[in-house]
Amino acid sequence: MRSFSSILVTGGAGFIGSNFIRHVFRHADFSGKIVNFDALTYAGNAESLADVARDFPDRYVFVHADIRDGEAVRKALKEHGCDAIIHFAAESHVDRSIASPDDFVQTNIVGTFRLLEEARALGPRLKLFHHVSTDEVFGSLGETGFFSETTPYAPHSPYSASKAGSDHLVRAYRDTYGLPVTVTNCSNNYGPYQFPEKLIPLMTLNALEGKDLPVYGEGLNVRDWLHVEDHCEAIWTVATRARLGETYCVGGRNEMRNIDVVERICALVDKFAPPLPSGAPRRSLVKHVTDRLGHDRRYAIDCSKLERELGWKPAHDAASGFEDTVRWYLSNPEWVSSVRTGAYRTWIERNYASR
Ligand code: NAD
Ligand code: DAU
Repeated sequence: MRSFSSILVTGGAGFIGSNFIRHVFRHADFSGKIVNFDALTYAGNAESLADVARDFPDRYVFVHADIRDGEAVRKALKEHGCDAIIHFAAESHVDRSIASPDDFVQTNIVGTFRLLEEARALGPRLKLFHHVSTDEVFGSLGETGFFSETTPYAPHSPYSASKAGSDHLVRAYRDTYGLPVTVTNCSNNYGPYQFPEKLIPLMTLNALEGKDLPVYGEGLNVRDWLHVEDHCEAIWTVATRARLGETYCVGGRNEMRNIDVVERICALVDKFAPPLPSGAPRRSLVKHVTDRLGHDRRYAIDCSKLERELGWKPAHDAASGFEDTVRWYLSNPEWVSSVRTGAYRTWIERNYASR
């Protein structure tokens, strides 16, 4: 088992990164320090880790900086004696990549390159560079079959192409410079602290407020949904126990059509929130809208390598996982309104100005 004394986590103020940092502090066998290195784009919210900052003041550090800034990365690695990097930071939303791909190339490709260069400069002090990636690099499946570690890359959106580029760079640094890397490619995550542009929080909050629920096309595209905590545990398992150089696919064996996801969310919001003024069930808010350009039809993951070699399996089942998630968004209106209005930036200035 690999152990680390100080981990640089990039993108730790985002959805998965913040859940990961909390998971490691609260549930993993880890007594070191975590340096959350995040540029705080629209998707980053340092307030998502207010409990961690409060409970682990000597072991949690927040650094407000950009992975494209090599000097800032170098300074953080040196100042905090980091011996591992776990890389989440990315532009992550497919629709934004279609509207405006520039930031995706800049952060996901150039930013990853910059980080790899700084990782390489650490030499033998670096025990691990773990790269968090996506199943979207594999493209789209038909009615049958699964993505696995041997599936050829065939990305379709600017987002997935930029993630594919970063995956290739990471493996090139392994093969060329012997960088100690591991990679995970995961399916769709759901859970708390996800920016409400993604399907599940968007539909939950729109349903709560009686707004239209914009389903792309017929809603028949299929995604495999995994609870974010199960993804975090998979990353920790790979980071600490996988052979260096290996890649693992991570998934929930939980394929659902988008329309079924949306209808399930509607039923949960009907159950836990006050009824709409009209008394109509929330599924009546579904509005089929123009399809996403290049919309991948189906994702599904064969995660048997991770299960077989490292004994990982998801702890959450979809029924209770979806219910807990919908209830989390309904019972955390302060977090929701803070990320929607950008008010959390004031919180950052108050709490981090002097660090
Ligand atoms: P997110 O958009 O919620 O968070 C991204 C974080 O990265 C934010 O905190 C943002 O401020 C930060 N960031 C962006 N650009 C940066 C830069 N240039 N420098 C420093 N920080 C920067 O994303 P997420 O959903 O938490 O995804 C995290 C990672 O996991 C991404 O690499 C994504 O490709 C991958 N992934 C996501 C999913 C999913 O379902 N969300 C599934 C598989 C893989
Ligand atoms: O598969 C992993 C990927 O999952 C990650 O790499 C990405 O970072 C993450 O954003 C997610 O990508 P998707 O495009 O699958 O997620 P999104 O929540 O945007 O959409 C899920 C499905 O729902 C997709 O088929 C598009 C559809 N959709 C989405 C939105 C936002 C709608 O029908 N209506 C919507 O308003």
